[in-house]
Amino acid sequence: MAGKKNRNMKALVLSGGKGTRLRPITYTGAKQLVPIANRPILAYVLDNIAKAGIKDVGIIISPETGGEIKETIGDGSNMGLSITYLLQDAPRGLAHAVVVGREFLGDDPFVMYLGDNLIGCGIENFVETFESSDSDAVILLKPVDNPQSFGVAEVDKSGKITGLEEKPKNPKSNLALVGVYIFSSEIHRAISEISPSARGELEITDAIQRLIAVGKPVQSRIVDTWWLDTGKKDDLLAANTVVLDEWFKRKIEGDVDSASQITGRVTIEKGATVRNSVLRGPIAIGRGSIIEDSFIGPYTSIGQGSRVKKSIIEHSVILAGAEISHVDRLEDSLIGRGAKVIKCHHKHQALRLMIGDDSVVEV
Ligand code: DAU
Repeated sequence: MAGKKNRNMKALVLSGGKGTRLRPITYTGAKQLVPIANRPILAYVLDNIAKAGIKDVGIIISPETGGEIKETIGDGSNMGLSITYLLQDAPRGLAHAVVVGREFLGDDPFVMYLGDNLIGCGIENFVETFESSDSDAVILLKPVDNPQSFGVAEVDKSGKITGLEEKPKNPKSNLALVGVYIFSSEIHRAISEISPSARGELEITDAIQRLIAVGKPVQSRIVDTWWLDTGKKDDLLAANTVVLDEWFKRKIEGDVDSASQITGRVTIEKGATVRNSVLRGPIAIGRGSIIEDSFIGPYTSIGQGSRVKKSIIEHSVILAGAEISHVDRLEDSLIGRGAKVIKCHHKHQALRLMIGDDSVVEV
């Protein structure tokens, strides 16, 4: 594609959709804002875009969750970004989101980044690959065990993509699309030539397939670090573990008393209080939370303003404003915002529960 280098690379981040897979956590919030180590997934996505030297970012939002996303992320100036919010009326497909972004994107090349995906590496090299090649698209792939759940690519020896399918019943390879794509303006023409799929969405995989059909070069690159699609509880706990493990440092800004013991990479934000507790990192403790007479084990994130009293917690994500009290051991758990897990000492061991729709309680 001629003149590609002279153009300004933009980014289009897809944060619309309904996020039904993390129910009930995302009934009340955008899945892109679910925190990993107390930061929204979307913040890591924007970090990666900023690190690649991209400044102009369009974020696709939905009517249901757009307000919350705007409020949390702002105009991007604190990250050196200029963010434009683009409203998609309903989740009509990833290619439809590009149509919504058409005016913002103009004829510039762009990185399309799904706002609920985390990858363990930067995207600078992939952007360079795109800029130094004649490709109209560079797509990031990762071998997976369950390709049926993703977009799947067939690739020749040189890394050129020869075919693509969205969530195929009989996948032709194990290479999943990780949700990061780099496109030239040719993608707009390809999108104008496709129709909605059987599930009623305008699929980006069909548009890329269209590029291939008309002879446009489409390259792939394999992500050789981890990649986490954070749509489900176990993926989210895995993402929390990996981010705490690889990216967290020891930083204690909260108030810790002398009866407490803090070991390893523990981040305690300002305004958090730790009393008579043992904290064994890696752990993230959010602003304004209170930990008393408790043990917090590795790979746990405690959200802002939460309260943990006389409890043992390990490998869990506790969202903002939650309360855990007198719980002997909480493991592998995801506790929603403002939720309470309180063990009462009654004579008979009845459980008293108020559990939201689609919740899972294992006792
Ligand atoms: O996670 C990788 C997979 O992401 C790829 O392998 C698939 O090829 C791709 O289609 C996509 O599949 P998902 O089923 O995970 O897509 P989901 O509906 O979760 O949407 C991904 C992101 O895009 C999410 O942040 C919501 C946003 N979105 C989605 C749609 C359908 C929009 O902003 N607008 C939309 O219309």
